[in-house]
Order: sequence, then C-alpha cells, then structure tokens
Amino acid sequence: MSQQDDATKESAILDEYYDYVFSIVQRCGEVNCQISKSTNLEDMDVEFKSCDVDLVTAVDQLVEKTLITEITKKYPEHKFIGEETVSGGGECVLTDEPTWIIDPIDGTMNFVHGFPHYGISVALFMNKEPKIAFVYNPRLGQMFTARKGKGAFLNEQQIFVSKETSMSKALVMSEAGTSRDPDKLKVVFENLINLIPKIHGLRTLGCAALNMCMVALGGADVNYEFGIHAWDIAAGQLLVQEAGGVCIDPSGGSFDVLSRRVLCASTMTLALEIASNLSQYYPPRD
Ligand code: IPD
Ligand code: CA
Repeated sequence: MSQQDDATKESAILDEYYDYVFSIVQRCGEVNCQISKSTNLEDMDVEFKSCDVDLVTAVDQLVEKTLITEITKKYPEHKFIGEETVSGGGECVLTDEPTWIIDPIDGTMNFVHGFPHYGISVALFMNKEPKIAFVYNPRLGQMFTARKGKGAFLNEQQIFVSKETSMSKALVMSEAGTSRDPDKLKVVFENLINLIPKIHGLRTLGCAALNMCMVALGGADVNYEFGIHAWDIAAGQLLVQEAGGVCIDPSGGSFDVLSRRVLCASTMTLALEIASNLSQYYPPRD
C-alpha cells in the first residue's frame, strides 16, 4: 500500500472516531447541563481529592464512565487516561496505541459554584500525538473541535489565534490551580507580581482547557500554568496548534503533555518572551 493510501485510510478512520465520539461528548454535556441547572449548590455531591480545593462530583464520575463505556463498546482496543480513573488509583500511561485523554469536567470548582465556565475535555492521541480534540462547555453551548491538519473550530466556525507578538499588548490567562502547596503558590504569586505590570491584562477563569480555547479563538494571547494534568491540556494542545498557535514548556523548551506544565500562545515570539519572564515550578510528572 502506498503512503498516500495509508494516509487516506487513517483519515477515514479518524473521521469515524470523530463522528462517534462527538455525539457522546454532546450527550454527556446535555446530561451534565440538566443536572447542574436542577441541583442546588448545597445538594451537590462534592468530594475532595488531593486537598480541599481539588473537587470531584458524581457528575464528573458519571461523565467519565459514560465516555469510557461508550467508546469501549465500539473500540475495545482503545486505551484511556481519565482524570477520575487516575485519581482513583488508575494508571496514567501514554503509549503509541490510540488513547483517549479525558477530563469529564474541567473546572469542577466553577461547576460546583454554578459559574458557567467549565467543559468536557476529550482528546485522542495516537503515536503520542494529538489527532482529535473536543472541549465542550454545555452551559454556554460552546463546542470547540479540532482534527490534526484540519483546523480548529468553535461551533463549526473556524477559529484562529491572534497575531500578537508583544508581551506588553498581550491578554494573558493563568490559574492558581487546585493545590495548596506553598512552594507552588510562591511561584504563582512571584509570576503574577512580575508579569502584571508588563502585560496588557490578566484573566483567570478556572478552566485550563477553556483557557487554551480562548487562545485558540484569539480572545486571549497567552495561557500558562504549572501543576495542570494531561487531561486538562491534551485537547487544548491540538486546538491551539490547529488554530495556528504554539504550545511549549514554560521554560521555553518543547511541550510535553505529561509534564504538568503548559505555555501556549498566539506566536512563538510571544511564548518565548513570556517564558523568559517566568519563575519555574516542576511538579512530579503525570
Ligand atoms: C482544574 C482547572 C483549573 C486549573 C487546575 C485544573 P479540574 O481542573 O482546570 O482551572 O487551575 O490546574 O486541575 O480539577 O477542575 O478538572
Ligand atoms: Ca476535572
């Protein structure tokens, strides 16, 4: 078989995966939305994971279980890295096999408070490269999608990063994260103190995946964070890259989805300028 035949075959398979998983993500979003609209904050079944700001609800667990069960029914050989499965003692291993990296609700703190900025984040990796990405905010009806080589979209309209190259003009997103670790917080504060006087503005909205989508659609110019996990950034990586942007390590090196470190930006010039201004924090890898 020629290389072109191989590429055509892979593209057809990816189209099939995309259509199948798109509809599951949409269905999970509808369920999630109904529950969050009909449940009072006090009745929300919230548990704590690594600390009192690292939250999980029954909805996170239901959405992850639904995605894994439905995908496995059709593709039993596919692998998974799911936030709640890993937090419950499961493995976080990325091989060359088709692997779905899932955050059933990114921004659980927002979800619990009824702040309508959270999303289901799902990415397919093959040979350790992202091929398909979905980030779906069901409360605001924002479905971000990307396929390798085929662009990034918001509700089927193609999106592009801004052309910003200068830190002084950049709208920057970042998060304090879901850890109370004093060493980590020290770096978070140092970076804010250093960056805020040098940038155009700072936004911190509580959902790492949607932050990356804001960069992909050109609303924000940069997003960086230390301590996120693969499931927070796997879909965002492809969305930003397919929208014309860059993802790097916050030190300026290559991006590694398991490193728990991310810096994405509209342009490499801007990404490197921000990187050179950041104090670094290296959490244990996923
Ligand atoms: C968190 C959110 C938050 C970010 C954390 C993530 P979760 O994800 O994306 O904005 O700062 O690093 O862990 O716990 O809501 O899935
Ligand atoms: Ca989550």
